[in-house]
Amino acid sequence: METAAPVVVRPARTIRGNVELPGDKSISHRYAMLAGIAEGASRLENYSTGADCASTLGCLRALGVPWQRKAGGNVIEVQGRGLTLAASAAPLDCGNSGSTMRMLSGIVAGQRFTSEMIGDESLSRRPMERVIDPLSAMGAEIASRQGKPPLRITGGALQAIDYTLPVASAQVKSCLLFAGLFAEGETRVRESLRTRDHSEVALRAFGVRLDRQSIGAGCEVRIPGGQRLRGVEFRIPGDLSTAAFFLCAAALFPGSQLAIPHLLMNPTRARLLDILMQMGLGISVTQLDEIHGELVGSLQIQGAKLKGITLAGADSAALIDEIPVLAAIAPFTETGVEVRDARELRVKESDRIAAVASNLRRMGAEVEEREDGLKIRGGQSLRGAEIDSHSDHRIAMAFAVAALRAEGETQILGAESAAVSYPAFFETLEALTER
Ligand code: S3P
Repeated sequence: METAAPVVVRPARTIRGNVELPGDKSISHRYAMLAGIAEGASRLENYSTGADCASTLGCLRALGVPWQRKAGGNVIEVQGRGLTLAASAAPLDCGNSGSTMRMLSGIVAGQRFTSEMIGDESLSRRPMERVIDPLSAMGAEIASRQGKPPLRITGGALQAIDYTLPVASAQVKSCLLFAGLFAEGETRVRESLRTRDHSEVALRAFGVRLDRQSIGAGCEVRIPGGQRLRGVEFRIPGDLSTAAFFLCAAALFPGSQLAIPHLLMNPTRARLLDILMQMGLGISVTQLDEIHGELVGSLQIQGAKLKGITLAGADSAALIDEIPVLAAIAPFTETGVEVRDARELRVKESDRIAAVASNLRRMGAEVEEREDGLKIRGGQSLRGAEIDSHSDHRIAMAFAVAALRAEGETQILGAESAAVSYPAFFETLEALTER
């Protein structure tokens, strides 16, 4: 395979400007899948431009769901098929996307045919027992390569399940709620730490009845089977996990000024904003609005001197996608960053604990790597280096941000992986950077 040239990132003086981001990746996946099994047409505006969400659309087309791109590509019109999809002649290619494989497995497990789900090298290493076990208990037949992809799922005639998630995972919760739509009886899913709730919010927007109850730091969701969905129109709010890179870039320079309109503000995702404010970043939110149950707002960001932070427990779960970039800027904080209870980072698109530690060391930082996290001292300087993205979009983007305050140039190898969630990342970062 041809490898793209590395992207070079030069040190910056400050971050200034306005950036409107493509639709949130988590929400785009869910709306595409639910639109596919809804009755009638759906129109999804500001759909994520990332390759992962295109993988979801590709799988839906293979399952007989017609859709078209409109308005230059970021509006998707889906003609829902209702709950019955068509068998795909070819394997369903999930690419790099764990969300596609895990959440769609809940839908194909409800179909009376066999589907094969495949992924790229990184996805083929990721654990799938977390969906295989409960879906099998519901009555699906699933073969895998020792709990890893490819998955061969023969679905149909599911029974409801009463299930407590062994690991905090919104993908697994979503998979089971989606499978619950096809099951006989009421499916109950409990989580001891609350994870992002976009599936619960989206299911209601598509007309599904479900009950939610808080239990301590977690919650229980109940969904009766056999419900029909109806198509929706929705403008997907900007991706908060992508915004994290620009927020952290702004946080590196006390003089930064950045505006991000129409950004997702869902409370199960917005912990990052509280944490960055605790660290000293100035953030104000205006035009707060609710659309189909999702909070949306416009952010104004003002750079400041950054304090350090310790992340553990529920915070580590809530910030799982943002920890790489928080860790990458940790040397520039006053007292450093410590991350605990984040073992899940080891089974993401790459082993993100190891990838962050090794790349920070390449840039000259001292880092303590632990089984479930990292400890990075504050008040360190970084020097430009060659960064190995491990073909992981969030590692490539995190170190492009850290490179803005390094001494000398940084080369990001495998920078093209940013396209998994945000293909325009490097152009946008460059446009916001003042030197
Ligand atoms: C996601 C959930 C998280 C997250 C991923 C997207 C989702 O994964 O890391 O990027 O959209 O539900 P887990 O469910 O594995 O925690």
